[in-house]
Amino acid sequence: MKKIAELQKDEWVDKEEEIRGWVYRWRESGKIVFIVVRDSTGIMQTVISQENVGEEDFKASKSVGIEASVYVRGTVRKDERAPGGYELLAKEFKVIGPSQNFPITKDKSDEFLLDHRHLWLRSREMTSILKIRSTVFEKLHEYFRKEGYYEVQAPMFVSSSVEGGSTLFEVPYFGRKVYLTQSSQFYLETFIFSLENVYTIAPSFRAEKSRTRRHLTEFWHCEAESAWMHNDDMMKFEEGMIGHVIQGVIEKNKQDLIYLKRDINKLESFLPPFNRMEYRDVIELGKKLGLNLEYGSDLGADEENVITKEFSKPTFITHFPKSIKPFYHRPDPENPDVVLNHDLLAPEGYGEIIGGGERIYDLNELLKRIEEEHLNPEDYYWYIDLRKYGSVPHSGFGLGIDRFVWWIAGLDHIKYAVPYPRNIRRVIP
Ligand code: 4AD
Ligand code: MG
Repeated sequence: MKKIAELQKDEWVDKEEEIRGWVYRWRESGKIVFIVVRDSTGIMQTVISQENVGEEDFKASKSVGIEASVYVRGTVRKDERAPGGYELLAKEFKVIGPSQNFPITKDKSDEFLLDHRHLWLRSREMTSILKIRSTVFEKLHEYFRKEGYYEVQAPMFVSSSVEGGSTLFEVPYFGRKVYLTQSSQFYLETFIFSLENVYTIAPSFRAEKSRTRRHLTEFWHCEAESAWMHNDDMMKFEEGMIGHVIQGVIEKNKQDLIYLKRDINKLESFLPPFNRMEYRDVIELGKKLGLNLEYGSDLGADEENVITKEFSKPTFITHFPKSIKPFYHRPDPENPDVVLNHDLLAPEGYGEIIGGGERIYDLNELLKRIEEEHLNPEDYYWYIDLRKYGSVPHSGFGLGIDRFVWWIAGLDHIKYAVPYPRNIRRVIP
């Protein structure tokens, strides 16, 4: 059986075809029922009359509810007025799974739609977003494979923090406490001594109390780690990766982008090369824009929103002060107060989508930073071991996939980029 999008072609006109899907719209006009059917590929109008389908099927079509699943057999006709340009003149109409009083009607509140996310996933808006999301995952995997990276898996139950203790979720674990991972970075670092170039795509968890348009407590994290690479090499790799994914979405999801009113020309203008800027220049720019910033300030969602509205391209921010970054970042040998790192900020107010950089690979330098940050070296014994046995320069990054989708799809809030968003208030459905 063909999918609806395949059927919307001249070659099927006057042919008898079948579709199955869900009732998207229903209306009656005189003795004819018009039912727009939706499947995973699109929508198509079916035209049902008693004369053509018989009494029983016609009766079924008259009482069928929105979102019932249906089967329709009939003749394809071209009709400019029908959505998609074609319709099906029914010869048979069957209800597969009835539906009465579908709870989602027009103009429901955001909270209502979140409570009914399991049903709202059927909306054309969510369908388009989910399709874009699927392409993003596909293209990420494709890029890593093309570049010779191995995919690896890290544990989600962990015993120490990567990105600082304040956002750790504690989990009771047979009489002990463990945490949900904030990042698989440290585990990825363990793999590079055999596989050299590795990546993983997995959830990460952060007990984020902040209510911003870009924070989730559970998000999908695409992380990579590469032996021998320096900060600049890593940025070049990421530029290629982001470009590959955007290009892929433009090619595969044109209809979805149009449905979401995302300007495709604008997306094209965000293809590489990206811009680069040092942290201290970003602070100066922020001050000019009226933000209350000084050297050493962290950039939060609000600041990045104002700053990146000035950007015409995704922009790497480099040379952050050591004091506002986790201990593992490698200090710049030429200026040890800053680290050899980068954040990639998406333009248009979106802000950080990637955090990455070069890792400390010298044993003593790492021990010193652990001490400076008042961390317990025992918690990191295995991470420290990596610097004792054949350490190498290496770099890596973490891309927040939900944030990436949020930006590419041009959405208002990150919760629209995720099928089942988790934040401080919501864990249902
Ligand atoms: O900048 P972050 O905290 O960096 C790390 O976790 C590194 N250990 C990654 C690495 O080098 N392997 O997080 C990386 C990215 C952010 O840029 C952001 O896109 C996303 O993860 N992210 C979140 N996305 C949604 N909700 C949150 N609460 C997020 N926290 C981080
Ligand atoms: Mg970050």
